[in-house]
Amino acid sequence: PSNGLARTPPMGWSSWNKFAEAIDDKTVREIADALVRSGLRDAGYVYVNIDDGWQGERGPDGVLHPNAKFPDMKALADYVHARGLKLGIYSSPGPKSCAGYAGSYGHVEQDARTWAEWGIDYLKYDLCSGEGFYHTAETVQAVYQQMGAALVAAGAATGRPIVYSLCEYGRFDVGAWGRDVGGNLWRTTGDIEDSYASMAAIGFDKNGVPHHTGPGGWNDPDMLEVGNGGMTTEEYRTHISLWAMMAAPLLMGNDARSMPRDTLALLGNAEVIAIDQDPLGRQGLPVRKQDGTEVWTRPLADGSVAVGLFNRTDKPMAMTADWPALGLGDHPSVRDLWAHRGVVSGAVHTVPAHGVVLLRATR
Ligand code: GLA
Repeated sequence: PSNGLARTPPMGWSSWNKFAEAIDDKTVREIADALVRSGLRDAGYVYVNIDDGWQGERGPDGVLHPNAKFPDMKALADYVHARGLKLGIYSSPGPKSCAGYAGSYGHVEQDARTWAEWGIDYLKYDLCSGEGFYHTAETVQAVYQQMGAALVAAGAATGRPIVYSLCEYGRFDVGAWGRDVGGNLWRTTGDIEDSYASMAAIGFDKNGVPHHTGPGGWNDPDMLEVGNGGMTTEEYRTHISLWAMMAAPLLMGNDARSMPRDTLALLGNAEVIAIDQDPLGRQGLPVRKQDGTEVWTRPLADGSVAVGLFNRTDKPMAMTADWPALGLGDHPSVRDLWAHRGVVSGAVHTVPAHGVVLLRATR
């Protein structure tokens, strides 16, 4: 059952990494404005996702209401839609969300209808609480299936299909069945933190099962930390380059209202976004690991290949791409996607500590 959405990995912004439970209506509106003003909406970042912390109480009829920080969700959705953006929200299959707010347990179809009526475009469904009953592949698949079907029905009723993001940390081989329950993306790991160690442990070593990724359904190594301050610019460049090579969803996790130029340049690089969004939808892989360096490749729809020269060590390293070994002949035409210029195919690149040189080569 495909909802036809997410033919390329979803792009946008999510509240959790920067704001956590402090997210509110005013901030979401300001973020929406900032995405437009900065040009990032036009670069592809269209989902504005409210993560955990918006939920209030259920009424006597069972309808879930937002808390006081979100006075009118429908009005907020209208505001976001009027700016050419889409609004996302968050819930859990259990009685409680990860941060302890109301979950959808016992109210799955009702909640899906409520969100559809508000104009919600995206749901992240996060497996917290209910450990007592969601501890086998069958029970976990069943709750995700139930919400997947509820979203399809609710979205069909309002004419606004809803992207479905599965968050159960890669358990029970989720990539093998995520699409079957209606999922458009599924987390492959625990939570990312704003540190090089956390980002690298996910990005280099926990990439989900690559062949599960493709148009309509994507491995999700978690939201971006770019711009949150815990990594250097070179480390953040590695972060977004790895996510682009992996065909990962690109969900900004920073305070998009106040972005320094270097953060904007990292998130808004159209040539790097084009790698992430390549219509072939193949997940890149490491093809060589040596002395703390890794060469990654990703085949692209036009027959060119994205090549990442990654340096995981803490000193600069000289790296070259072995084009014949990569199947690109002796002298492909090569472009450096961060320097925005062509480079000679035999070039030796000095890759900074924890850094990357990202190339696109055409035979
Ligand atoms: C889990 C998820 C995070 C975030 C929090 C919210 O930890 O993995 O991405 O949604 O819950 O409580």
